[in-house]
Formats: sequence, structure tokens, C-alpha cells
Amino acid sequence: MPRPFVDLLEAARRRLPRLLFDYIDGGSYAEVTIRRNAADLDAIALRQRVLRGVEELSLSTPLFGHELSMPLLLAPVGFAGMYARRGEIQAARAAQAAGVPFCLSTLSICSLEEVAATVSAPVWLQVYLLRDRGFCADLIERAKAAKCAALIFTVDMTIPGARYRDLRSGMSGPGGARGAAMRAWQGVTRPAWLWDVQLRGGRLRFGNIPPGVVADTGFGGFANWFARNIDASLTWKDFTWLRERWSGTILVKGLLDRDDARAALAAGADGIIVSNHGGRQLDGAPSTVAALPAVVGEVGGRVPVLADGGVRSGLDILRLLALGADACLIGKAWAYALGAAGEAGVTELLQTLRAELAVAMALTGCTDVREASRELLAR
Ligand SMILES: Cc1cc2nc3c(=O)[nH]c(=O)nc-3n(C[C@H](O)[C@H](O)[C@H](O)COP(=O)(O)O)c2cc1C
Repeated sequence: MPRPFVDLLEAARRRLPRLLFDYIDGGSYAEVTIRRNAADLDAIALRQRVLRGVEELSLSTPLFGHELSMPLLLAPVGFAGMYARRGEIQAARAAQAAGVPFCLSTLSICSLEEVAATVSAPVWLQVYLLRDRGFCADLIERAKAAKCAALIFTVDMTIPGARYRDLRSGMSGPGGARGAAMRAWQGVTRPAWLWDVQLRGGRLRFGNIPPGVVADTGFGGFANWFARNIDASLTWKDFTWLRERWSGTILVKGLLDRDDARAALAAGADGIIVSNHGGRQLDGAPSTVAALPAVVGEVGGRVPVLADGGVRSGLDILRLLALGADACLIGKAWAYALGAAGEAGVTELLQTLRAELAVAMALTGCTDVREASRELLAR
């Protein structure tokens, strides 16, 4: 039987160096919003219904002209090629086999071209609007050449969230000899990971960022380049820059507020992803499940509304659908699964989520996932 979320999380904890596990697992400041995402989902009681003829269930979900095998996408997750060798490719393969989209982060280890050449399903590409607009314009052209299904414009990263766990773990501190020794020790005490990623994987770099863009192609150089390039001056007017270059689907990812949803629609977004970046940006922000109904109300069915944050089970997927999401995304869950067991781990996770969603549908009397509504919630 495929392992559930919590077992894959624990397996990732055992297999990954601490700095990588903590990078996936952690969030900003006191990690209040991470806990809220999960706790608020847990608090939603589903309405148990019986004897309603639930032998035939349909999980199939239409989205922007694509047919998803279930209402789920793999969210963009940076650095995934460090959790397992060529990690983005392994995850994209598992997503394709399960019939769900894979969203590639700009900050991936495997390049867009490498992923697109490996899977036949179109990749959904996450982009930032960076100060280096030349880089962004090139990436959009590359997305056209790779026949990406959609761009996901992340709007909640115009300033970095402070992640204290990363400072302590070795991910972003401490520097100097002490930091280097800490990182080396974490690597040697995780031999399976060390062999798979560091020794067999060759030199790791961010595949979407051409060497010409930054002078220093080491991780520190890229991190400094990214920090210099995220742009706190962005406004909704900048959406036009993106629209002029990409006529296909653009989803805006990372809003929680109904007024921002209205602005996104006015700017011309084709879809909205209600997200607090998995609690990695504004600590103290509401959980996504708490924010979702107001955004859904504001959007009023004009464009699809997706949501992520704290999804650990098929029950959580059904909870978000009941509150109005058209589909949801998982971030940490697939990153743990990849870190635990590569492609097989992500496949296991997707099988588990699908089976859990089916059971949750059957026991709430919901035979078609497209019809999930507030009727599924216990009052
Ligand atoms: C390790 C990690 C890296 C992430 N990197 C990105 C990224 O590069 N771009 C982005 O838009 N979101 C990124 N996210 C946020 C996810 O896309 C998603 O919004 C979030 O993980 C959802 O919450 P969950 O982790 O509770 O499922 C990242 C999340 C994690 C856990």
C-alpha cells in the first residue's frame, strides 16, 4: 500500500541533510501561518452521508482546456533537484503518470528544456517579475518554445520572507568555516542522499538561469543575484508587461485578499491561486482555507480559483473544493515524497492522495468531484 503523507515526511527527514529538510519543512518567523494552514483545514468537518450509491466516482477535472485525472497540481518548488538527483524530472514523470500537471519553479535545478524534453505532458512554468527583465523576457520565449501550458506569476515574493530555520540549519547561514563544516557534516551523515545527489548528480546549478546572467555561478552567486533582482516596486501595471509577451494562460499565485483578487481580474489574470506561499512569506497571514471563500465570492466564477497551503491528504483536497476551489496544489508534500524516495515517492504520494480523495467523496456522497460544494460541510 502506498505510504501516506506523514510517513513520506518522516522518510524525508531521515534521508535529507538537515538544511534541506528544514528548508522544505520551515516557514517564516515563528511559522504561525504554516500551522494555521494545517490546523484550519483539520478543523473543517465533512458531512458524512450514507447509502447514496457511490460505486462510480469521477475525479476528472477540466482546467484551462486540460483534463486532470484529479483536482490536483504539483506546485512550483525551488531547489527540487537537490532533494533527489534531477529531482524535477523525477517529479514531472510521476505527475505525468498520475495525470496531473507539474509546475516548474524558475529556481529549479533542471532547466525548463530538460524537463520538457523528458515528459510529453506540457509543463506549467512559474515565473517572477524580476528587475532583470531581459532574463524574464528570455524565459518567456523559452516557455513558448517548450510549449508550456501556462505561466504562474508568483506575486507574494517581492521581498524575501525571513526564514530563521534556514539561518540555523546551514541553508543561509552561518557562513565561514563553521558553516562549511556544518554542511559537510550534514552531507556525510546522510550517505544515501550524498551518493545520489552530490556524488552521482554532478555539479548542481539553477538550470533556468544561464551562466551569462550571473558572474558567480555557485549557489551563493545565484542567491545574491535573486535577492538583488526581486522587485518590491511591482504594481498591477506590471502585469501588462507579462501579458504583452504571453497571450496564453496566466495564473496569479500568492494572493489571499478579495481586493487583490478584484485587482488581478482587472489586470487580466486567467486564474488565481489563493496561497500564502506555504507560510514562507508573511507569518501571521490567514490560512489559505480561511481566505478562500471571500476570494471565491469576489471572483464569482469568472476565472478558476485554485488554492494551496497545508494539503496533506485527500480529505484536505475535498475540504478546499467544498469551499470553492476548482483544484488545489501541493508543495511540501511532493517535496518530502521526492526527498524520501524520488519518483517512486511522488508516485506513492499521488496514489495515496487519489485513494483518500475517492474515499472522502464516497463517504460524503459526492460522486463527481466537479460538484463538490458547501453541501459537503457539516454544519
Ligand atoms: C521548498 C519549497 C520551495 C518553494 N519554492 C517556490 C518557488 O520557487 N516559487 C513559488 O511560486 N512557490 C514556491 N513555493 C511555494 C509553493 O509553490 C506552494 O505555494 C506552497 O508550498 C503550498 O503550501 P504547502 O507546502 O503547505 O503545500 C515553495 C514551497 C516550498 C515548500
